[in-house]
Amino acid sequence: MQSMKGRDLLTLSNFSREELEMILKLSIDMKHRLKCGEYIIPYLNGKTITLLFQKPSTRTRLSFEVATYQLGGHSIYLNWSDLQITRGESLADTARAIDCYSDGIVARVYKHLDLEVIANNARAPVINALSDLAHPCQAIADCLTIIEKKGGIKGINVVFIGDGNNNVCRSLSEAILKLGGNMIIASPRSYYPPQSYIEEIRKGASKGASLILTEDPIEGVKNADVIYTDVWVSMGQEKEKEERISAFSKYQVNSQLISKAPQDVIIMHCLPAHRGLEITDEVIDGKNSAVWDQAENRLHVQKAILALLI
Ligand code: CP
Ligand code: NVA
Repeated sequence: MQSMKGRDLLTLSNFSREELEMILKLSIDMKHRLKCGEYIIPYLNGKTITLLFQKPSTRTRLSFEVATYQLGGHSIYLNWSDLQITRGESLADTARAIDCYSDGIVARVYKHLDLEVIANNARAPVINALSDLAHPCQAIADCLTIIEKKGGIKGINVVFIGDGNNNVCRSLSEAILKLGGNMIIASPRSYYPPQSYIEEIRKGASKGASLILTEDPIEGVKNADVIYTDVWVSMGQEKEKEERISAFSKYQVNSQLISKAPQDVIIMHCLPAHRGLEITDEVIDGKNSAVWDQAENRLHVQKAILALLI
């Protein structure tokens, strides 16, 4: 397996199953060592990681900042709106400037294409902290949570309910297929991921993995090991709010839907949640919910990603 050092992580598409497994293995190790009191593991001694964020973030920003600190490095947070880019400097020049002072760049952007511009103009590895098309670091943390709760991914049925074409669903589907699980997307047909994407992730799937699309959430959850949901209106889609809330109204993850699933199903959400829309209080706060494990696992996974790439 080639080293991951120096690579960008914009989507999971150019990471093999073995590489994903290696990130997960190191994440488990990072978590164990932290629980044993090893707070600083100096993979990034003296290194600087720059976080460039165009959209709000609670978990991703904090977990990358804490991860960098716990690896002996230093992080700098840049809010897009504070930069010269707002006065006309090009994104390419901005990326080149950031690259002069950074050993790694973690970027959250509206348009995935902007991440590619940053990556093409920076020598340092660029890590996607969420774009309109992908949220790969979230998906790896979600796989870690599923492994902890269900013992592995191979043969596990993961059902995503809601916006089947959003960044979280796309990256999760790709990761689950790569790791040999079964992905079921229950979504209105007009929100299915495009055929080209479905074909691409099917090509990267491990033997035995499957991807099913359905418009029926009840059918979807019948054999679910994991039920996953995310907001109906992602950042940047605010103009479509009314139309989306109406399109997804039958796709709420609530007690009634959970009652159709096996008793030991786990409930996942990347957060932030819009309680009362895509998920109800009793489900997100219920005994099957794994949402806080997911949030915590972001830290351990970011540490593994930074350690392997930078
Ligand atoms: N799940 C996630 O990416 O959360 P934030 O938007 O708070 O970073
Ligand atoms: N799909 C959501 C995920 C937030 C972490 C969004 O893009 O807003």
